Amino acid sequence: MCGIVGYAGGRSALDVVVAGLRRLEYRGYDSAGIAVLADGGLAAAKKAGKLANLEELLEGQPLPAGSTGIGHTRWATHGGPTDLNAHPHLDNAGRVAVVHNGIIENFAALRAELAERGHALESETDTEVVAHLLAEQFSSSADLAEAMRQVCRRLDGAFTLVAVHADEPDVVVGARRNSPLVVGVGQGENFLASDVAAFIAYTREAIELGQDQVVELRRDTVTVTDFEGKPAEVRPYHVDWDVSAAEKGGYDYFMLKEIAEQPKAVADTLLGRIGTDGRLTLDELRMPDRLLREIDKIVIVACGTAFHAGMIAKYAIEHWTRVPCEVELASEFRYRDPILDQRTLVVAISQSGETMDTLMALRHAREQGSKVLAICNTNGSTIPRESDAVLYTHAGPEVAVASTKAFLTQVVACYLVALYLGQVRGTKWGDEITGVIRELSEISTQVEQVLETMEPVRELARSLKDKNTVLFLGRHVGYPVALEGALKLKELAYMHAEGFAAGELKHGPIALIEKDLPVVVVVPSPRGRSVLHDKIVSNIQEIRARGARTIVIAEEGDEAVVPYADHLIRIPRTPVLLQPLVATVPLQVFACELATARGNEVDQPRNLAKSVTVE
Ligand code: M6R
Repeated sequence: MCGIVGYAGGRSALDVVVAGLRRLEYRGYDSAGIAVLADGGLAAAKKAGKLANLEELLEGQPLPAGSTGIGHTRWATHGGPTDLNAHPHLDNAGRVAVVHNGIIENFAALRAELAERGHALESETDTEVVAHLLAEQFSSSADLAEAMRQVCRRLDGAFTLVAVHADEPDVVVGARRNSPLVVGVGQGENFLASDVAAFIAYTREAIELGQDQVVELRRDTVTVTDFEGKPAEVRPYHVDWDVSAAEKGGYDYFMLKEIAEQPKAVADTLLGRIGTDGRLTLDELRMPDRLLREIDKIVIVACGTAFHAGMIAKYAIEHWTRVPCEVELASEFRYRDPILDQRTLVVAISQSGETMDTLMALRHAREQGSKVLAICNTNGSTIPRESDAVLYTHAGPEVAVASTKAFLTQVVACYLVALYLGQVRGTKWGDEITGVIRELSEISTQVEQVLETMEPVRELARSLKDKNTVLFLGRHVGYPVALEGALKLKELAYMHAEGFAAGELKHGPIALIEKDLPVVVVVPSPRGRSVLHDKIVSNIQEIRARGARTIVIAEEGDEAVVPYADHLIRIPRTPVLLQPLVATVPLQVFACELATARGNEVDQPRNLAKSVTVE
């Protein structure tokens, strides 16, 4: 977590860095801080709480104008969210400033060592040691990039560091191990940031930094080396979205905008992946068909919402390819010694491409000889870089902490992979694939239809604002949808929300049912596996008989649910496996509206950050 910005150029560093932090605030909002090099010295300001608090502070006590600077927005790990623990951290002489994302695991030993040498450290953070170590190293080399290389060689853990030194007033230095850092290449100005969104208003030309690299940024040059000082190869790329994609575009919240963008996100994820002959062309996968034919097991690893997308994908993968598929929380995966070999395909799903648990899981899989395919929304991020193959979801930047459009596109991308496997392994005929693709292509319009009918859902959400608990039930692919509905409600409305497989109801959860308890039920299509439909209709009756207030999500024309639904939310008819793509949307709207009604911050829920870059 944490957002980092660095700037060297001709503009006001203060303005550029604060604007960049605003776009990165989704990464953490416990505190914010900035340091600017000016008048031969270094001036810094930092404040606990959101960026707005820092901006208010700067209004009262403006920093001197300078054109080199760094900034940070924090998600606290070591030390509470206080002014003192906010970044940047300075050395005792106030000549070096450093900002950090990640965790320095050996900081306690380094801190003790520094204390012995007479350094006075003030904060509870792991980061502060770096400022002091950099100051020591700089005193012998007078070269900040070299000092950074020396220091990085002493650090354990995951870190992105960005630093400035008052004696090198035109230089910003960054270092990267495991956490994200990208360079923005401008005309007479250059940028460093955790995410391209921070500099997209100035340039769309970027450079990916690799693992264990140090970058020295001046207004006209970008020099990248490894930690030993050897020049490093870098990969420049063009960002294919512009600044408007990173703005709210008239919506009150990014989440509302991102919910509304789902029809386009789904359509864009399908775009260009279907040949004129109706066959899937996933050339970008970079994985030979021979390999895909040889695999005998698929393991999906992911966290949170991406994990729910993986749970849905399992149904389609096994049904269409007949290859056994497991889905596992990335945070659990490597700790249980999973059985993996060269014939296992591991699919890592991640919107950000930076989730540390997922990254560690894929590294473990590769060490065991398995091939890893990433499904990711962020071009050039660590997870696709470290995978054998990648299929990008084309959702565009997702800023709200609660994932919405990324989820739908992850499901679509997983389905494309499943169909492609079916195509190369011969378990699906060409016309069957064409048929599913046609159905998938219609989803975009169907999501639009759902979005047009959401007012009753919003009204219902407002009426439940004083409830403490909401339960969610689903079966088959509706089960992960129920889990996703509950996750959205927890993270946004801070309510107790739980999702259950409806078949498990009588094995325990039914004891929770009491008078007026809202229970959302995702009903499978009566046209698909009608037996499941009938069973869930019985479940609705069972909970209603015990006083539950039933909120039923059912497809158009399903009349069997009508007598038992206190509230009925209609979704368009879809094939069974595609239902999650429409059924999830009302649950997103429901959670967003409930959060608003309860006065919560929709885009920045408490205690959370968009990407979880620490384990
Ligand atoms: O970036 P990722 O897709 O790897 O993130 C995984 C989860 O942290 C993420 O989906 C999280 O659960 C969302 N906040 C849920 O809305």
